[in-house]
Amino acid sequence: MTPHRILTGITTSGTPHLGNYVGSVRPSVRMSLRPSAQSFYFLADYHALIKVGDPARVQRSTLEIAATWLACGLDPERVTFYRQSDIPEIPELTWLLTCVTGKGLLNRAHAYKASVDKNNAAGEDPDAGVTAGLFMYPVLMAADILMFNAHEVPVGRDQIQHIEMARDIASSFNHLYGEHFTLPVAVIEEHVATLPGLDGRKMSKSYDNTIPLFAPREQLRKLITGIITDSRAPGEPKSVEGSALFQLYQAFATSEETAAMENAYADGIAWGDAKQMLFERLDREIAPLREVYDSLIQNPTQIEKTLSAGAEKARAVASPFCTRLRHAAGLRSLELASTTHASKTAKSLAPAFKQYRDKDGLFYFKLLNREGAVLLQSKGFTSPRESAQAVAALQQQGEDALTGLWDQLSYQGDREAIATALGREGS
Ligand code: TRP
Repeated sequence: MTPHRILTGITTSGTPHLGNYVGSVRPSVRMSLRPSAQSFYFLADYHALIKVGDPARVQRSTLEIAATWLACGLDPERVTFYRQSDIPEIPELTWLLTCVTGKGLLNRAHAYKASVDKNNAAGEDPDAGVTAGLFMYPVLMAADILMFNAHEVPVGRDQIQHIEMARDIASSFNHLYGEHFTLPVAVIEEHVATLPGLDGRKMSKSYDNTIPLFAPREQLRKLITGIITDSRAPGEPKSVEGSALFQLYQAFATSEETAAMENAYADGIAWGDAKQMLFERLDREIAPLREVYDSLIQNPTQIEKTLSAGAEKARAVASPFCTRLRHAAGLRSLELASTTHASKTAKSLAPAFKQYRDKDGLFYFKLLNREGAVLLQSKGFTSPRESAQAVAALQQQGEDALTGLWDQLSYQGDREAIATALGREGS
């Protein structure tokens, strides 16, 4: 059985703020600590190019987001932590997926549609200022997810449609080329609040109302002082409903602390005092992380090292899988094709397993159908016994054994043809 895989990415287009921390970084670090999970966390820097045309900013943001994740407790020994652009198999898979993705599907993507609507409203050409990158965004994201056969993808609500599209794209590919991809599901943290920003609207780069997660202590205090409140005087009871200050406090406080703040509001706490309480509560959680963050930022070489080690781990999965997918789509050795053709003359052959030792000294097996076409191709095993065990599993359990052999195969052809061949093999 493949273990339960969790995967998520953050676009490296800005400086992490409190909203990113509460909505994404903190819950995904917690999730990565679940013992049964195998997690993949990455810096989506290819995605950043869709929004940001400033190379220095992409680089800086990549450093800041990597340092943020590490400072917040992501353990690169436990999880696979990498930078998207270090994995050349991702753009490769993007193309394979592009060719099974309906253009109509992409026309319906919220982000693209929003741009078109805006252009239409302004009387512009519908696609004015829209790059093909923006249009293709969901396909690149599907490649991120499907590359590692992730089961669960923790994301914000605004990303749900992208996960649904990844499922659609995976189904199209599976339908055409065999069951290669797991269909992912979005995981939305229901109890995680969307944080308000300084002006009370959702905290977001685009509203310019953010509080940087690792602002120095004094700057944090100043920003908090600037949070918009109503004009009630000290002593006047205040409402927690719609209070940005209260919502921020709640995202960091225990339920007892929150209840106490609620009472303080009812008792007419002065806004200045409430802000001071929020500042101290925030800083209590953040200060120790900030210290780690500051030292990581000073040491980009260390982060580069961590990311290259992560890329190596990720590519150990991505590279053989990509080979298998290329093969499935027909990007494969001409020798295999000629085998198929030559043996067409020997039509009466029964489906068969062939076990052999290759020039590399490793042991392989393949399953051929009656026409001699390859249905399954194993990876190289160091001993003939391992190869024989896999063959035995297939002979005994039929296609049910395929799930367990997932990472021992470099190519898997049409599922139905495999089932037929396994049904007949040896009879
Ligand atoms: N699009 C996501 C965002 O902006 C980032 C992202 C890119 C992502 N690829 C992903 C998230 C794959 C989850 C899985 O938030």
